Amino acid sequence: MNQPATDIVQPLRLGVNIDHVATLRNARGGAQPDPVRAALLAQAAGADGITAHLREDRRHIVDDDIARLMDAIALPLNFEMAATEEMQQIALRHRPHAVCLVPERREERTTEGGLDVAADANRLRDFCAPLADAGCRVSLFIGHDARQIEAALRVGAPVVEFHVGRYCDLMAEGEGDAAAEELAALTRAIRDAHAAGIEVHCGHGISYDTVAPFAAMAEVRELNIGHFLIGEAVFRGLGPALAEMRRLMDAARGVSG
Ligand code: PXP
Repeated sequence: MNQPATDIVQPLRLGVNIDHVATLRNARGGAQPDPVRAALLAQAAGADGITAHLREDRRHIVDDDIARLMDAIALPLNFEMAATEEMQQIALRHRPHAVCLVPERREERTTEGGLDVAADANRLRDFCAPLADAGCRVSLFIGHDARQIEAALRVGAPVVEFHVGRYCDLMAEGEGDAAAEELAALTRAIRDAHAAGIEVHCGHGISYDTVAPFAAMAEVRELNIGHFLIGEAVFRGLGPALAEMRRLMDAARGVSG
C-alpha cells in the first residue's frame, strides 16, 4: 500500500457529483433534468469520474439512476453510500469502480462531518471486505482527526476522502483566521494519511474560491465536487463550468492544462 517517493506531481482527478441535477428533477417529480445526461456532459467535458450519492431517503439520486449510470457512462462511478446492509447489497449488485462510505442522518441537508470510523472500526472492516472482494475501491469520508486516520488504517481502506466543507464555509463567511486554522489541520491530516500509504481525496463545498489549496497539495489525488459546479452550470453550462474548475486545479497544481 505504501506509495513510492517521487518528485513527479501525480495528476489530480476531478470527480463530478451529479446529485443536485436529481434534486432539481425530483422537485417536479418528472424525468427532467436527467442526472445521467449531466454525467455524460461531464464526461464529454473532461471529468475523470462521476460521483453519485444514493441516500437512504432517495431525496435526489434513486436506484434507477445508479443502474442507468452504470450502463451509460464510460467513466468510473464513485458510489457514495451509508454503511448499511441495504446499500451494501446495491453496491455488490452493481460493482461500481469505487464506493465511498459517508455518514448519513435524515434530518441533515447535506453530509455534515465525517464518518466516525474510530467508533465503528471492527464493523466497518467487516463491512468493507466484501466490497473490496467485489473489486470496489473503498474510501472512507472522514474529518481531519488523527484518530480517524488511524482507524481507517485498521479498517484497511485504501482511500480516505477528507471533508473540507468547514474550511469552504469559513472562507465563504469571511472567517479568514478560522479558515486558515482549519486548512492547517486538514493539511496535517492529508500529509499523515498519505505518509501512511492511504490515497487521499478531498470533497464537500469546494468552489472556484476554495479549490486551490487542495489542488496544490501533491498528496491529494482526487477532488469530488458537486453543488457548486451544478449551480454554476445554470449560468454558464456544465462544460464551461467544469473547464474553469479544471483550469483552476491545473494552475494551483502547477501543471499546464
Ligand atoms: N464528497 C462527498 C463524500 C460528499 O458526500 C459530497 C456531497 O454529497 C461531495 C463530495 C460533494 O460535495 P459538494 O456537493 O458540496 O461539492
